[in-house]
Amino acid sequence: MSVEQQRRSFIGLAFGAVAAAGGAISLVAVKKTWDPLPSVKAAGFTTVDLSPMKDGEMRQVEWRKKPIFILKKDASMAPNDARDVVVGDARYTVVIGLCTHLGCIPEYKISKQTFICACHAGEFNTDGINTFGPPPRPLEIPPFKIDGTKLVLGETSPEYEKLAGKA
Ligand code: FES
Repeated sequence: MSVEQQRRSFIGLAFGAVAAAGGAISLVAVKKTWDPLPSVKAAGFTTVDLSPMKDGEMRQVEWRKKPIFILKKDASMAPNDARDVVVGDARYTVVIGLCTHLGCIPEYKISKQTFICACHAGEFNTDGINTFGPPPRPLEIPPFKIDGTKLVLGETSPEYEKLAGKA
């Protein structure tokens, strides 16, 4: 093989390697765009064990980057069959913690048993129902499933469909 032939052969190999690497990178990009990995899908669920919660306790968890309020109702809070998540004898308010006015995160004031939105003084009761100020509707109930004493956020169920008025 002449020196010129060797040079051409080397250039050809180099181009081939670059093209192959570029193709592989493109394929990975396409897969990421069109075919989310299983771990991403699994990340769409948040599971919370409700059993350690005390009566009247409010917890905030995150689901799909949204705050979720979970309030375990105590005896002073009236049952609400249209909004309560019932697990055994216990009732919970489970709502997305974004104000239905302009999306601020309300704060739960335990002394007033009220979710108060500092942005424009909107208020929601312990059922997550708007009771004062500009919020036009109750806090939204996220899709959920009950699995024993665990709340699985991000999965629908007949219980959720009933509360969401879709049954
Ligand atoms: S954003 Fe909550 S009252 Fe306006």
